[in-house]
Amino acid sequence: MIIAIDGPTASGKGTIAKALAAHFGLPHLDTGLLYRAVGRQVFLDGGDPDDPVDALAATTFADELLGDPHLRTEECGGLASRVSIHPTVRQALFERQRVFAEQPGGAVLDGRDIGTVIAPDADVKLFITASVDARAMRRWKEMQARGARITFDEIAEDLRRRDERDMGRRDAPLRVADGAYVIDTSELTIDQALAAAIDATEEAL
Ligand code: C5P
Repeated sequence: MIIAIDGPTASGKGTIAKALAAHFGLPHLDTGLLYRAVGRQVFLDGGDPDDPVDALAATTFADELLGDPHLRTEECGGLASRVSIHPTVRQALFERQRVFAEQPGGAVLDGRDIGTVIAPDADVKLFITASVDARAMRRWKEMQARGARITFDEIAEDLRRRDERDMGRRDAPLRVADGAYVIDTSELTIDQALAAAIDATEEAL
């Protein structure tokens, strides 16, 4: 069983993917982490994330980098969104995601192009979304709790910019995959969103 989960930044897809994987006893791959690792590696190499050659070179990052806490920062998210535009980078990460998806017992993958490109054959496709305001508010609360000094407007602007880049790119843009079940989490608690995702999964199986 392959469960493909896509959606924009801060929609709740990561939380839902992790919880769904635990619920169904499946391994989970957060594919955004792979792009974040490439972004981080370009930075460590002193390269230019907008340069396809520098970005491709960074796809050979060491596996240990996936455990680097820097990967979770907003800065790294921005770098990831820039390197992920290059088709050669996406191609270089394709096989690794495909191998994960094809594990005999099944798998949960979340990202931007799982239901459209990585696993168009998935048994279950979910598209998790929410309004920019709802997503910015969640991000802002998280960052306030961590003591970061950033305004709500700055976060909303950054989300808009990232959405535009992810949805506007030519190769594997973020879009609702054919047959995907859309869950808008703007007005839902985490528990409600997870319940909706479990219901949709059980219905699709
Ligand atoms: O999901 P996350 O915020 O960690 O992803 C960071 C960036 O990586 C996204 O903004 C997107 O540009 C890119 N990405 C992608 N395809 C995926 C997962 C992430 O292009 N499957």
